[in-house]
Amino acid sequence: MRIAVLGAGGLGCVIGGYLAHTGQQVTLIGRQANMDAIRKDGLRITGPRGDFCIRDNLECVTEPDQAEGHFDYLMLCVKSKDSAAVMASSADLVKRCDTVFTLQNGINKEAGMFAWAGEEKVIGSSTMEGATLMAPGECINPFTGPVTAYFGEYDGTITPRVEAITEAFNKADLNSRAVDCIAQVLWEKMMQIGVASSWSVSTLGGGDFYFFDGITVYEGAQSYVQIALELMEVYKAKGYEIQDFYAPMTQFKDFEKGTLEEGTQLMMKWGNELKAADMKSRTSMHVDLTRGKKMEVDEIIKPWLDEATRLGIETPTVVAAYRIMKVLNHYLN
Ligand SMILES: NC(=O)c1ccc[n+]([C@@H]2O[C@H](COP(=O)([O-])OP(=O)(O)OC[C@H]3O[C@@H](n4cnc5c(N)ncnc54)[C@H](OP(=O)(O)O)[C@@H]3O)[C@@H](O)[C@H]2O)c1
Repeated sequence: MRIAVLGAGGLGCVIGGYLAHTGQQVTLIGRQANMDAIRKDGLRITGPRGDFCIRDNLECVTEPDQAEGHFDYLMLCVKSKDSAAVMASSADLVKRCDTVFTLQNGINKEAGMFAWAGEEKVIGSSTMEGATLMAPGECINPFTGPVTAYFGEYDGTITPRVEAITEAFNKADLNSRAVDCIAQVLWEKMMQIGVASSWSVSTLGGGDFYFFDGITVYEGAQSYVQIALELMEVYKAKGYEIQDFYAPMTQFKDFEKGTLEEGTQLMMKWGNELKAADMKSRTSMHVDLTRGKKMEVDEIIKPWLDEATRLGIETPTVVAAYRIMKVLNHYLN
C-alpha cells in the first residue's frame, strides 16, 4: 500500500513511521529541516511500543509535487489553519490519490476535503494517538489507547477501502476499528479534546506545566469535570449517547453517573497515576501555546459554543475558557 502523509509533523511522522515500519510504502511531505534529518539519520520515535529508528519504506519530500506516482491513500496531517494553503499546493497530488482522509481534530473538516479531493474520495477518520515533533527527525509518542483510531464512510457504511486502511493501522499496532458511526466518533473525540484542551490551556497557560500538574490540584480537577459536564449536555442534546470510544482516556460514562465531587476525585486519582508514571503529556493545543503557535480554537471549541446556542444550553465554564483562549490566540502566530 502506498500512503502519502501531507504535513509530516508530530502526528504525521508517528503514524507514517509506524506504517512504514510494518511494510507500507510511506511518503512524508514536510518541512525541509525535518525531512533532511529523517533522510540523513532516520525517523526516531520514542513511545509506549518502544524506541524506533525508521529508515525503510520511507521517502521524504518537501513539496506535494515531489511525491511521485500514484497513492492508495493520502493522510492530511497539517494543523487546520494550514489546510487551505496545503490543499491549494497539492491539487495535482490529490488527483493521484485514490482515497483521502485527515486525522486532524475539528468539526466540519470534511467540507474543505470534499471541495479539494472530490466527495467520493474522502473517508472519515479520527485518532487519539499522542504525538509531538520534538526536534527535526525526533518524535515522542507519549500515549496510545486500547483503540486508537476509527475509520468509516461519511454515509455510515463500511467499505473495502475503510477496512483496508483499518487493517494497515492494526498491522502497525495502531489498534483501529472500522465503524458505521464515524460522525458520532468525531463529535465524541471533539468533546474529549475540547474538554482537555480548553481546560489545559485556560488552567495551565504557557508555563512549563504538564497535564498532571493541573489535574492533581483539587480545583483543577473540579474545573475539568465541570467543562466535561457542560459539553456532555450539548453532546447528548444532539441525540448521541456517551460511548467512551477512547476509554480509558475518557471518563464520560463515569462523570455521567456520578456527582461533580466524585468526578473530581476520579480525575485527581488518574492525575496522580500519570504523575507517578511521569507521563509528561500535553494536549496538541497546549503544545502550540507553549511554542507560540496559533491554537485550533475555532475548529475545536467554537463548534461546541455554536451547538450550545442552537440547542439553548448554557455552557458558562466553556465560554470563559474560550474567551481566555481567544485572547491568547490573538498574540500567537
Ligand atoms: N499530535 C497529536 O497528539 C494529535 C492527536 C490527534 C489529532 N491531532 C491533530 O492532527 C493535526 C496535526 O497535529 P500535529 O500535532 O501533528 O501538528 P504539527 O506537529 O504542527 O504537524 C503539522 C506539520 O505540518 C507542517 N506543515 C504545515 N504546512 C505545510 C506545508 N504546506 N507543507 C509541508 N508541511 C507543512 C508543519 O510545519 P510548521 O510547524 O513549520 O508549520 C508541521 O510540521 C492537528 O489537527 C491536530 O489537532 C494531533
